[in-house]
Amino acid sequence: MRVLGIETSCDETGVAIYGEPGGLLAHRVHSQIALHARYGGVVPELASRDHVRRLLPLVDAVLEDAGMQRHELDGVAYTRGPGLIGALMVGAALARSLAWTLQIPAVGVHHMEAHLLAPMLDQPAPEFPFVALLVSGGHTMLVQVAGIGRYRLLGESLDDAAGEAFDKTAKLLELPYPGGPALEALAAQGDPGRFQFPRPMTDRPGLDFSFSGLKTYALNTIRAHDREARADIARAFQDAVVDTLAIKCRRALEQTGIRRLVVAGGVGANKALRERLRQEAQSLGAAVYYPRLELCTDNGAMVAYAGFCRLRAGERSGLDFSPTARWPLEQLREPGGGA
Ligand code: KG4
Ligand code: ZN
Repeated sequence: MRVLGIETSCDETGVAIYGEPGGLLAHRVHSQIALHARYGGVVPELASRDHVRRLLPLVDAVLEDAGMQRHELDGVAYTRGPGLIGALMVGAALARSLAWTLQIPAVGVHHMEAHLLAPMLDQPAPEFPFVALLVSGGHTMLVQVAGIGRYRLLGESLDDAAGEAFDKTAKLLELPYPGGPALEALAAQGDPGRFQFPRPMTDRPGLDFSFSGLKTYALNTIRAHDREARADIARAFQDAVVDTLAIKCRRALEQTGIRRLVVAGGVGANKALRERLRQEAQSLGAAVYYPRLELCTDNGAMVAYAGFCRLRAGERSGLDFSPTARWPLEQLREPGGGA
């Protein structure tokens, strides 16, 4: 069974083919960074229009990479949500039309489920159950994963997502969009001992997060110092986010007794976070799993894989497809039900 995966929830057009046997047969991502850079953030209407331009040529390129014809596909998976509604609509409409013309099934995939299953595309793949830390531009969540579609939310951000905090703080530091990778590069030159930022919500029990205060803390520190302090401020901010995430991950592993941690989503590409979580897990005798770097940020491979799992179980989405900007992860069920 070979499944085409289409991701268009935000500012990356991702297309891939996952099959068994064979695994990931091809995947390509077109990033819209250059398109949005001069606006300092994603402009939803421009994002939708660019998905329209890029998507079909990307589907053809991926088919060619895999040495396949369209009629050799057995199913199509697309990101149904959460995300920018216009952008989601482009992927869903193309996916659904393609499936209809080829007379093959289609399934709408949850973007965060796709992120948390992304480490399954590499070896060794994590076994269930595991704890997943999902850290992207829109979400920060700790989830107990008993199996595909069996998710229990352990904690989440009460305000800004971790990636959003990176992006907003990067903007305050006058760094280019997208802020996360730029802030990481600046922080690498910073002195870790100069500023000490708070670790929000770590002094009380629970697994929720709050990152908006850190952004304000960064703003006040920027205002009180010259430009030469920027790298040190970036370092203090990153250390605070990484430390906070690590403390909560340790707590989640201790609380659940689970000894496998999966880290997924764009912020999972941060090397300081990866290294810190590796150490934290090691000290608990736990294993930590990451998708390879290119599969941390948005891509079609994770959508193809999540869709494959659901299609294989007989799950189908009807012709009345309904992209949805908001879609709580906990509403998902095990594969096989209606989407
Ligand atoms: O998962 P993703 O590609 O898109 C969403 O679903 O949101 O995540 C994008 C987020 C952005 O906020 C971006 O700044 C952040 O991930 N990000 C990073 C790094 N690479 C991407 N944050 C910190 N360090 C990085 N290296
Ligand atoms: Zn994402």
